[in-house]
Amino acid sequence: MQIPSAPPDTSPERTPATRDIMITVNGKDEVISVAPWSTLLDTLREQLDLTGTKKGCDHGQCGACTVICDGKRVLSCLTLAVMRNGSAITTIEGVEGPDGLHPLQQAFIDHDAFQCGYCTPGQICSAIGLLAEGRAKTREDVKELMSGNLCRCGANIGIIDAIMEVKDGGTHE
Ligand code: FES
Ligand code: FES
Repeated sequence: MQIPSAPPDTSPERTPATRDIMITVNGKDEVISVAPWSTLLDTLREQLDLTGTKKGCDHGQCGACTVICDGKRVLSCLTLAVMRNGSAITTIEGVEGPDGLHPLQQAFIDHDAFQCGYCTPGQICSAIGLLAEGRAKTREDVKELMSGNLCRCGANIGIIDAIMEVKDGGTHE
């Protein structure tokens, strides 16, 4: 005879509604309570008011939600906030340096690398991660390694031009 298994323990002590995490966002330490199922994307946008990071598909398919986490680009819609306890996160609001715009921000302006701008924060964060990885040697490499970031406005040529300019130190028109 099969012994029925005990029902899951859903008492508040076993399944807390929220957990406290500490993350550093754009250089600022934040202690926040998050539900175990909250994505990093929703946490940034809804709890920290950092709405520069965009929600496009919410399924890992468009790249609009890309942020930099401990130096690497990640899709914040596929990342649970609790997984990033203790991490340092940079969003588009934090890429500017003490001297002003990040070179990629300036290059995007110079190359008309956006139209509606919805994909742009993710494109720039992804490009920062791409350049830090150091794997892209050619324009084709850049196109391939940026292929997770979609632009439905068709600004792709300008986006790749802008990234190439920064990658090669301002040698592209
Ligand atoms: S919103 Fe995250 S990949 Fe589309
Ligand atoms: S500029 Fe509109 S989606 Fe890229």
